[in-house]
Amino acid sequence: MSSNPIGIIDSGVGGLTVVKEMMRQLPHESIIYLGDTARCPYGPRSSEEIRKFTWEMTRFLEQYQIKMLIIACNTATAVALDEIRQSLPIPVLGVIHPGARAAIKVSKTNRIGVIGTQMTINSKAYEFALKKIRRRVTVHGLACPKLVPLVESGEWTGKLAEKVVAESIEPLKGTNIDTLILGCTHYPLLQPVIESYFEGKIKIISSGEETAREASVILDHTSMLNGSTDGPHHAFFTTGSKTMFKNIAQQWLELEEIHVETANLTSLTT
Ligand code: DGL
Repeated sequence: MSSNPIGIIDSGVGGLTVVKEMMRQLPHESIIYLGDTARCPYGPRSSEEIRKFTWEMTRFLEQYQIKMLIIACNTATAVALDEIRQSLPIPVLGVIHPGARAAIKVSKTNRIGVIGTQMTINSKAYEFALKKIRRRVTVHGLACPKLVPLVESGEWTGKLAEKVVAESIEPLKGTNIDTLILGCTHYPLLQPVIESYFEGKIKIISSGEETAREASVILDHTSMLNGSTDGPHHAFFTTGSKTMFKNIAQQWLELEEIHVETANLTSLTT
């Protein structure tokens, strides 16, 4: 069982930022990634739809005897983490609690900002997670719907990125936050631009990085780290264009060649 793969799901390519961290922190683990690129973005969808899609992705990866499931998508975590965790016999991690815990650890003023999709911010999932750890924390949530399309179009550096980031996060200026959680899979790619917008004065938390750390602790404590010398073997599935997925994945993961297959989710029910 310890040599079984870790399943990672996301609404699209964004969760590859979590995969990158997993590969860095846990280089011996095999990963099966599924990105629902055909139905991305999840951010503006209804919670019922997001719940259904997240279950379909979960059922798909269950076929591969995964030993752990990571819901890399903040939006899907906000909507479906609790019920999926209750139903599966393996550890199920979302990205929200690890990000919230890391922010509480570094914030000195207890004034924390969160940026994410409309659904993630509307759900107040980060606010609940932060307040559960420290009741007297002040949370400033801000939906930044323009940032996902910006990253998906490959524009995560340069003048356009600086302009769109500045316009999007401008409402956080004057809130006196000392820590900002990047509550969306795509935002770590914009981290240098966001950091320079705040002139390096606030701490930035990438939920994906913290989730990989938590996955590593859980696998270690449950003696589930891959001890086999064979591997790792990674597999990538997408519901959309294989070519597009492959191009982005190879670029983001800085890998020369990855194999991508098509996943058909509509035949799977909750
Ligand atoms: N993966 C989503 C998230 O982290 C961003 C893209 C989307 O809206 O589906 O919230």
